[in-house]
Amino acid sequence: MLIRRARHEDADQACAVLRRSIAELCLDDHHDDPAILRMWLGNKTPAVVGGWIADPDIIVLVAVEDDTVLAVGAVRPHGEITLNYVSPDARFKGVSRALLAQLEATAHELGNDSCHLQSTETARRFYLACGYEQVGMAQRKHGTTGSYPMLKRFVRD
Ligand SMILES: CC(C)(COP(=O)(O)OP(=O)(O)OC[C@H]1O[C@@H](n2cnc3c(N)ncnc32)[C@H](O)[C@@H]1OP(=O)(O)O)[C@@H](O)C(=O)NCCC(=O)NCCS
Repeated sequence: MLIRRARHEDADQACAVLRRSIAELCLDDHHDDPAILRMWLGNKTPAVVGGWIADPDIIVLVAVEDDTVLAVGAVRPHGEITLNYVSPDARFKGVSRALLAQLEATAHELGNDSCHLQSTETARRFYLACGYEQVGMAQRKHGTTGSYPMLKRFVRD
């Protein structure tokens, strides 16, 4: 597996991974509610994902094996992780852990001493295991069960 900066030509596959990850893995969040899924998936189109890849203010990374995108992640220059979605085909094989570590390393290189994000219900346990702490009340996003504000402070070298 290789983790690298996403390219324009990754947009279709990256978008498909995002959509499947949300629809098939985040059941604890959307409970298969069509209205929630419609809102959540509304901006997950190849054109929008291509726009994120092209945006200089978003660092989009993909985990790939051969020519297959296994996961998509993104971090903003101020340390906010905005995407971290694994394909259902690659779940629980260490892909998200590796991608998250790379997103954090990118944030650190850009001068941040912490990363923050809004976790799904589905990934909450994962982030706690990865050293994040919850730093506020759960919010409802797109009508989902909960969106948890989480923060990880980097240990000083
Ligand atoms: C939960 C999730 C993030 C884990 O990522 P992954 O690539 O499948 O798994 P990894 O092998 O990298 O990480 C495994 C860790 O996930 C955690 N985990 C294991 N089972 C879990 C479960 N049922 N639910 C949540 N977390 C779980 C554990 O901490 C585990 O670590 P361990 O093996 O040392 O115990 C992923 O499977 C998932 O459901 N993603 C859906 C998209 C999403 O919600 N993304 C977050 C957006 S904020």
